[in-house]
Amino acid sequence: MENVSVLQRVVKAPALPDFVTSRVDKFHNKRVAIDWGGRHILRGRTPTSRDLVLQSNDYLAIAGHPAIVEAQRDALASGGLGMMMSALFMQDAQAPLHRVEAELARAVGTETGILAQSGYAANVGLIQSIAGERVPVYIDMLAHASLWEGIRSSGATAVPVMHNDLAHLERQVLRHGPGVIVVDSVYSTNGSLAPLQGIADIAAIHGCVLVVDESHSLGTHGVRGEGLVASLGLQDRVHFITASLAKAYCSRAGFIACTTRFKDYFGCEALPAIFSSSLLDYELAGMSASHRVIQTEGWRRTRLRQVTRHVRGELTRLGFPIGDGTEQIIAFEAGVEILTGKVRDILEGYGVFGSVFSAPATTASRSLLRLTLNAGMSDSDVTRLVDACSRARDELNLPAWSASRRAARRSEPELESVA
Ligand SMILES: Cc1ncc(COP(=O)(O)O)c(C=O)c1O
Repeated sequence: MENVSVLQRVVKAPALPDFVTSRVDKFHNKRVAIDWGGRHILRGRTPTSRDLVLQSNDYLAIAGHPAIVEAQRDALASGGLGMMMSALFMQDAQAPLHRVEAELARAVGTETGILAQSGYAANVGLIQSIAGERVPVYIDMLAHASLWEGIRSSGATAVPVMHNDLAHLERQVLRHGPGVIVVDSVYSTNGSLAPLQGIADIAAIHGCVLVVDESHSLGTHGVRGEGLVASLGLQDRVHFITASLAKAYCSRAGFIACTTRFKDYFGCEALPAIFSSSLLDYELAGMSASHRVIQTEGWRRTRLRQVTRHVRGELTRLGFPIGDGTEQIIAFEAGVEILTGKVRDILEGYGVFGSVFSAPATTASRSLLRLTLNAGMSDSDVTRLVDACSRARDELNLPAWSASRRAARRSEPELESVA
């Protein structure tokens, strides 16, 4: 009893020095008070069961699927936490970790694969192990932050490439020489597709390593969810596929598809693989069950595609500037953060909840509200979403959005040729 009361007592923390307090103060006094108009931008209304929440990356709506829950429960019941240690020590080829890695690798058509603790850890570890100091890494401006962090921590040179601009990519490669090209297959902020065929051509012609992050296409794209690289037949030209499994796989892990020789090297080279513990057996059992559901329940991909096509068509007809993307992620790019906060509040007023993406997830002038569609949306959910957007349209002031202004600039031929 005495121990409990000691634990419950809140002890005042020691004062922080200025170099920390000045940063915390700047966040509260500038970002929250001025840039966000006095309210934390990520705190809107709390949704109720009557609202339509389009925030989860569970694109195929498999959370709670009985086969997945049962696999996790069975693994836990049979002592399934596994060993608390780095994957590095797990050298038994028959260990659950390696069996699930082999399953995923077979699906994307590569020799083997590596499971990491998260997509973030997979990307940081991969870039650390392929790009050393002074190696140019050609990275799409909208590529995920974990890839940028991999470049920073490896000491390599980040060479930014304009989003999906093949001509700019080739110019940069010609200027800086062979290096690593890094792209997302489907971009997480606006749902745009990378022109993978053209990127693979440039990588092959100029002797570059090609890394494709398939976080938003693994499971959702391809006949059996094998992703875009495999479904486009590009496995022989893409050196590494990476993915977060916290999207369509509805798990907590990251994946890298690679060769066996590389996998052995990675385990002794990538810092997140060496110095952070591996996945637990019940998580692996859940992943393997998710994989089977994803491969066999193709109707989920068909439904996701139907919903995406319909919602994108209707929103475009209503004049929403969403033409940067084509896939299941839809960006309402209002621009400055305070405007995005207003867009969020208005839509929440109509019962639709998205996620605010602001700096550092976007630039401060291109913040956006992200809506993620999923296969579990019923026809009436889809109708509610379109109706809400239609009713909110005038309040949302679409012409003021940065996406509208950019689209207008693109449609002016003289300006386009000057740029
Ligand atoms: C493209 C992309 N790569 C990597 C990640 C990181 O994945 P995780 O959440 O598994 O760390 C994300 C998640 O936001 C992502 O969108």
